[in-house]
Amino acid sequence: MGAVATDALAIFGQSEREGETMTTLILGQVLKFHGSPFEAPPEATARHDSRGAVAVDGGRILGHGPVDAMRAAHPGAAEIDHGAGLILPGFVDAHMHYPQTAIIASWGKRLIDWLNGYTFPEEARFGDPAYAAEIAGRTLDLMLANGTTSLASYCTIHPESVDAIFEAGAARGMAVWAGKTCMDRNAPDDLRDTAQSAHDDSAALLARWHGQGRARYVITPRFSPTSTPEQLEALGALWAAHPDCLMQTHLSEQTDELVWVAELYPEARDYLDTYEAHGLLGARGLYGHAIHLTERERARLVEIGAALVHCPTSNTFIGSGLFDPSLFGTHRVGLATDTGGGSSFSMLRTMAAAYEIAQLGGTALHPAQLLWLATEGSARALHAEDEVGTLAAGAAADLVVLDLASTPAIAQRAARAEDLWQAVFPTIMMGDDRAVAQVYVAGQAMK
Ligand code: GUN
Ligand code: ZN
Repeated sequence: MGAVATDALAIFGQSEREGETMTTLILGQVLKFHGSPFEAPPEATARHDSRGAVAVDGGRILGHGPVDAMRAAHPGAAEIDHGAGLILPGFVDAHMHYPQTAIIASWGKRLIDWLNGYTFPEEARFGDPAYAAEIAGRTLDLMLANGTTSLASYCTIHPESVDAIFEAGAARGMAVWAGKTCMDRNAPDDLRDTAQSAHDDSAALLARWHGQGRARYVITPRFSPTSTPEQLEALGALWAAHPDCLMQTHLSEQTDELVWVAELYPEARDYLDTYEAHGLLGARGLYGHAIHLTERERARLVEIGAALVHCPTSNTFIGSGLFDPSLFGTHRVGLATDTGGGSSFSMLRTMAAAYEIAQLGGTALHPAQLLWLATEGSARALHAEDEVGTLAAGAAADLVVLDLASTPAIAQRAARAEDLWQAVFPTIMMGDDRAVAQVYVAGQAMK
């Protein structure tokens, strides 16, 4: 990820040449994970400095610790003091559709009708580069306002839509994973490519964007019903030729969809097999939703080390079903808004929905587990845990600062807190963009 450091230097290079100190201490409460809270007692995996600091230089994190120790280690550093604000890694949204921003919260339909009635007509507009640029910029600004500093987004079938999100990301210094959404059947005429054009357009976009600054190309077949086996095969071949890329798709979201997949792929053992048979199952694969999995699918996904992406507000909003909370302990799982099937841009709201869905499955997720899923868990799903979703030295200085008393209702609840977890949980459950006091991208304050 050397290209990211180069970007950061481009931001900070001027004053470095002038020989000024480059280090800034960002002060507040600091929460850092040193392991997965699903693999050890949650509270034992976190370090909390009630008066701490994160040292930032050249767009990167130098380190963090109690404020006195950090001042001693960085004499003369500039300081930005967030008081009692809680400093965390910026949130990482591991599955969203930026072209659906303008149709979020559309009423009354389940998956297939929702795609045909709301999503496809909107996505058809993204051949217009000006419209794509407008929505890409709007989406990233909404995400930053909600404390999300990086994301994995689907685009539309139009290459212009991919250029738009990567350009918007570069303009803000954000790490963006994205790819052209490929569909060559069961979609309107103006939203279909072919096996060949999907391969060739994706390959050209990959060559243009993958590794440019903080852009990472993601090979993106929408889902098995909208691709022919020939298209899945072509994209499998592209992935085999570029194994460092991620691949993102949807898996077992809604029961009607499962029936449809079985009709379209009569040879397949199950939904996952429609991908597996065409070279689209791998450790760098991101499988969104993964609600109605068979035992074979679960076992195979663990064996491969593939990532599942939990999209809780979407799963309730479109009426898809309840993600099994036991998967958190056994599988690589990221957390995501799935905007605009999801009903919020906020990873706080998304954590709250994950908590509620897990409760229905008999599990009370600990606040540490929720915060970890929204940061390092999603980063691990993207194979980018050294770069985003962490406060580890060397990672990008992408940070969110939460106000744990952002509304009267939250403040009166937090006032009774006896420890950090009690203080932060009301913000997880009831917070929104008002709780985001500041957000930093590569060390730059964005609010
Ligand atoms: N399955 C295929 N496409 C989509 C989409 O855009 N959103 C959701 N939630 N599921 C899908
Ligand atoms: Zn999706």
